[in-house]
Amino acid sequence: MTKFSDIILSFFKGIARSRVSLLGAMLTTVTFPFLLGLVIIDSWFHIDNPYFGGFVYMIIGPAFIAGLAMVFIGLFFLKGKEEVRLFTLTYLQEHFADETRFNRVRKLIFLGVLLTSINFVIFGLLGYSGYHYLESNSFCGQFCHTVMNPEYTAYQNSPHSKVHCVDCHIGSGATWFVKSKVSGARQLAAVALDTYPRPIHTPVHGLRPARYTCEECHRPDKFHGDKLNVIDSYEDDENNTHLKTVMLMKIGSAGSGTDKPHGIHWHVAEENTITYKADPNRLTIPEVTLTKADGSSVVFRSEDAADIIEEEGHELEARTMDCIDCHNRPTHIYRDAETAVNEEITKGTIDRTIPYIKQQAMEAVNQKYSSQDDAMAGIENQLRNWYKSNYPNLDVDILDRAIAGTQNAYAMNVFPEMKIEWGTYVNHIGHGEEFDIGCFRCHDGMHESDDGEVISADCTTCHVVLAEDEEEPEILQSLQGE
Ligand code: HEC
Ligand code: HEC
Ligand code: HEC
Ligand code: HEC
Ligand code: HEC
Repeated sequence: MTKFSDIILSFFKGIARSRVSLLGAMLTTVTFPFLLGLVIIDSWFHIDNPYFGGFVYMIIGPAFIAGLAMVFIGLFFLKGKEEVRLFTLTYLQEHFADETRFNRVRKLIFLGVLLTSINFVIFGLLGYSGYHYLESNSFCGQFCHTVMNPEYTAYQNSPHSKVHCVDCHIGSGATWFVKSKVSGARQLAAVALDTYPRPIHTPVHGLRPARYTCEECHRPDKFHGDKLNVIDSYEDDENNTHLKTVMLMKIGSAGSGTDKPHGIHWHVAEENTITYKADPNRLTIPEVTLTKADGSSVVFRSEDAADIIEEEGHELEARTMDCIDCHNRPTHIYRDAETAVNEEITKGTIDRTIPYIKQQAMEAVNQKYSSQDDAMAGIENQLRNWYKSNYPNLDVDILDRAIAGTQNAYAMNVFPEMKIEWGTYVNHIGHGEEFDIGCFRCHDGMHESDDGEVISADCTTCHVVLAEDEEEPEILQSLQGE
């Protein structure tokens, strides 16, 4: 009859015999109390520090698991086998046949099950918290601080600042979780080796189709009607004259049961499929194909499409249009300098009563700086000096606030460390001054089908401009009942 203590003894002897097991046991013993303590602290207090999580789930956790694995490898495959021969076929055959020996097997199995259950609990806890950590905004946005700082900053300054990074970048389901971790491991290596691109290239080619991300929250088929946009801007004169542009955006609908698809969201209606060919930056689109509900299709080509397709055919990307072909910056919204400064004035951080403040703020943010710190100092100097010589009686508090506002306009949008300047990342909602980006990649009036159908460039297809850069737009007064 073997006693339970004998079993445990032979288990430990087995561990001692194999160096691999011994090393593993040491690793497990040392890491165990830390791991348990830290995981409990994390689950209890939800520590939001990316390095705390990194330490627990990327160093201590794996070390503990590696230790356990080593113990078992040593015990069952290497030297330790001589003491603990459980699970080898001959051993089992011998012991099951003989009643006294059978007892030993039972106890060994009991011990095995006990240890495995404890490990399962720890693995479960580790897996659960580790999964949440790897999906957290603090891991995605802050772990590689310099690299992700621009995206994280822009994100926090956007309507999606409460949406988790993973809701747009990964979505639900195990396949995409694993995919993202594989590509994440590559990215960590790039950060460690300092080989990552600055700025990070866009468009992001591996982004999950919007159906599984954006459309988990938004349903353009349920939208209908138009939306009034009022855009505030300020001139660079002494009074920083306040101008307003008023436009009615024909957002329309992707069409629910009762509403036919129309307007801007017509593109994403179930019954339409729009595919296009584009250069890798998705800025030049020589060919667009619209497939309708009845299966018929129309191909629109730009004038130079034949040449582009012949010359760069192999480099062109074929893509099905979805939300991010227009909303490519739903959360990493980098404003241009003009918009950023205008927004600070609208918010009131930059006081509009300061003479020439629009002009001077623009002057300050448009200088070239080598880092954000350099920029903060430069902007402050520039504004202080200019107002000291031109308006020495200006209230100091108001100027201080305006300086902070101007610094903010810069800090939210320009990141010299990642080579992100004003306008590095284009936004496809709208059209640039040269009318060559955004909607106008297709809607330039030059994309024509064989039948002479043209993708419309008519200004009223997308919006009605009710007032453009006016001081007191009459339409706004009527709408507001004044
Ligand atoms: C509302 C959805 C959404 C959320 C939330 C979101 N992203 Fe993005 N992100 C996008 C889209 C869409 C792009 C693709 C832009 C493109 O292809 O031009 C993108 C692009 C990026 C890029 C590539 C560089 C760039 O600026 O375009 C990085 C890096 C990035 N996201 C990181 C993050 C991090 C970190 C978080 C969380 C702090 C986050 N994202 C949250 C939608 C989102
Ligand atoms: C987890 C849910 C969620 C996901 C995923 C999500 N959004 Fe949103 N989105 C929201 C919420 C909530 C708001 C409203 C925020 C507000 O009004 O402050 C919003 C607002 C918007 C707006 C209006 C912004 C504005 O200026 O008023 C747009 C456009 C938008 N989302 C597009 C997208 C796109 C494109 C994606 C996919 C890349 C996406 N969203 C993914 C929840 C989500
Ligand atoms: C053809 C370009 C285009 C596509 C494709 C597109 N949108 Fe939009 N969307 C727009 C424009 C333009 C606006 C109006 C923006 C504004 O207010 O100036 C808008 C507005 C919105 C708004 C804000 C609506 C409101 O009432 O404020 C949301 C949310 C939105 N889109 C979500 C989506 C989602 C989700 C998809 C994909 C299923 C999508 N959009 C596809 C161009 C597009
Ligand atoms: C990849 C090419 C492509 C891009 C980019 C694109 N469109 Fe379109 N759009 C089309 C095609 C094709 C049609 C159908 C032909 C037509 O009606 O002119 C269309 C039609 C429209 C229509 C008419 C829909 C209806 O009611 O029949 C509107 C409105 C529109 N687009 C707005 C926009 C806006 C706003 C943007 C930018 C935010 C945009 N589109 C970007 C390809 C594109
Ligand atoms: C294919 C759709 C489309 C067409 C065609 C179009 N626009 Fe636009 N336009 C937009 C969108 C989208 C915006 C962005 C609205 C926003 O800022 O949210 C915009 C913005 C504007 C703005 C405001 C810019 C600002 O930020 O102050 C003006 C002005 C304007 N468009 C004028 C025109 C004129 C003039 C034409 C005709 C030559 C035209 N648009 C044709 C889609 C279109």
